[in-house]
Amino acid sequence: MKKYIVITGASSPLGLEIVKKLDPVYNLILIYNQNYEPLKKYVNNHKVIKCDFQKEENIHTLIEEINKLNVNIYALINIAALTKDSSPEEINLIDFTNSYIVNVYAPLKISTSINLKGGIIINIASTDGIDTFNSYGIVYALTKSSLIYLTTILSTILKNTKVYAFAPNYIDTPIVRSMNPNFLKSEMERINQKELLTTNNVANNIIELLNSKDPSGSIYRMDGNNEYRKIN
Ligand SMILES: NC(=O)c1ccc[n+]([C@@H]2O[C@H](COP(=O)([O-])OP(=O)(O)OC[C@H]3O[C@@H](n4cnc5c(N)ncnc54)[C@H](OP(=O)(O)O)[C@@H]3O)[C@@H](O)[C@H]2O)c1
Repeated sequence: MKKYIVITGASSPLGLEIVKKLDPVYNLILIYNQNYEPLKKYVNNHKVIKCDFQKEENIHTLIEEINKLNVNIYALINIAALTKDSSPEEINLIDFTNSYIVNVYAPLKISTSINLKGGIIINIASTDGIDTFNSYGIVYALTKSSLIYLTTILSTILKNTKVYAFAPNYIDTPIVRSMNPNFLKSEMERINQKELLTTNNVANNIIELLNSKDPSGSIYRMDGNNEYRKIN
């Protein structure tokens, strides 16, 4: 029987790449917020659920809907994220709170509320949550750093579940391509990133973790296209 995997942010460029690769092998529960179109083709074979994490009741309804399926979940891949760049002076409480809700609160609630015994959680963080952040992404960096620490905390709390965090550097996605090219070039030089990562390579590495024997709480980073390494 096919195992079940829940993927939040399934509609993101990275999410879609992972969904495409896992589609033939697993039963997928795909969570999106606004971008339904690319997930349409999966509705007949998988469960596709809309959920805006910015409303607490939506997260509870989502958890109920997943638990109502009455299946053991083999893995949860937390990809959904709010990325809103702003200068330190522009940071405001609404953006700050919303970023924490989507990037940290939702993974925390879902991870601790669905039936994951014996399964795996993979939290998609960012190297910005470790050391590549800049002053325009303070809030994003804080949330990703918190997601990495949440991984450590969950690994001690969830005794029968493995919890990993995977932190990639810049990935070749529309959001990154829409950045000012000179700014992107200078940022990549600053953090010593030679080329943009591909969604294909990042997705392959994340999928590899589904069979990892590494201990729960392991943290990985991916700076170059073919390599990722365990840093904790
Ligand atoms: N791109 C990069 O260079 C890069 C680098 C390092 C780490 N990452 C991380 O990798 C992951 C994927 O990044 P990406 O660039 O492929 O995609 P992205 O543009 O960051 O996609 C964001 C995803 O989160 C979902 N989302 C946003 N707000 C939500 C909300 N309120 N409720 C529920 N879901 C919400 C979006 O759903 P809808 O589209 O359906 O609204 C979308 O699926 C993210 O965690 C990101 O932080 C990205």
